[in-house]
Amino acid sequence: MSGHLKRIDSIVEAVGNTPLIRLKHIERDAPGVKIYLKLEYTNPGGSVKDRPALQMLQDAIADGRLTRDKQLIDATSGNTGVAYSLFGACMGYKISLVMPKNVSQARKNVTQAFGTELIYSDPMEGSDGAIRHVRRLVAEDPDRYFYPDQYSNPSNPRAHYLGTGREILEQVGDEITHFVTGLGTSGTMMGTTRRLREHSRKVTCIAAEPAEALHGLEGLKHMGSSLVPEIYDQSLPDETLPVPTEQGWDMADRVAREEGLHVGHSTGGNVWAALEVAKRIKEGCVVTIACDRGDRYFAPMRWEKHYEW
Ligand SMILES: Cc1ncc(COP(=O)(O)O)c(C=O)c1O
Repeated sequence: MSGHLKRIDSIVEAVGNTPLIRLKHIERDAPGVKIYLKLEYTNPGGSVKDRPALQMLQDAIADGRLTRDKQLIDATSGNTGVAYSLFGACMGYKISLVMPKNVSQARKNVTQAFGTELIYSDPMEGSDGAIRHVRRLVAEDPDRYFYPDQYSNPSNPRAHYLGTGREILEQVGDEITHFVTGLGTSGTMMGTTRRLREHSRKVTCIAAEPAEALHGLEGLKHMGSSLVPEIYDQSLPDETLPVPTEQGWDMADRVAREEGLHVGHSTGGNVWAALEVAKRIKEGCVVTIACDRGDRYFAPMRWEKHYEW
């Protein structure tokens, strides 16, 4: 990324154009191969979800699904909720998020800071309960709400097609041989892969998926035991690589200590998977994604390794 200073009129303009950093210490385990990490946590909301949240808002405003009199509602206590909240605040749209009552206070605070309304669903029903709660509210009063639903919204992968994938090609060009990233909604994988497939040279695209149904790689989905997102096209990746939680957590620690990048656990999983791919090839260039930062996971506490997402 070029280092010129920018002056901007809105935080919206700070989304994208994220740096790509070479993992010079980690890649020593795979001599002859370069590993690059795209720092999506440098987006203003601190995560890979800023691009899709903004795209979903902009596309809905453009075609009239989102108007000033409507309230955006969705079920998320994570990075997408933070992104909706900050864009809602600066673009002047009211945001309501439904989350299980037992999510950590830190997660409630970060979205409420932007003026977002929180609606609590039954803690016993987890994140699926929050989704059902949103669907009920929207069905009861459809004119009141705009429900983006990132799992079925094509603007989600489109954000990565237009942004993430295009930027990776600008940053590494012909050098890239492999792209690896984890599956959550699958927006990053689908959109970036579609853009990389348009490149003149073959880029092998590999989906990283939690190895266990009950895992601790927040943001990622074990597809076999989850509601499969509508935007997910299983035939798109060249391969799906299972990532054990422990490996993702250990790699997150390693990336902090060796590279000076304090990343979240899904990023640890991504880098672990990227290194596995790098070890199999004699030469090449593997690109993966830093989804968010490690400080987003100080609460719940670090040792509570098993969550339900
Ligand atoms: C921390 C984190 N990692 C990874 C992902 C997965 O990204 P995607 O939804 O584009 O598959 C998400 C998405 O919510 C996330 O919040």
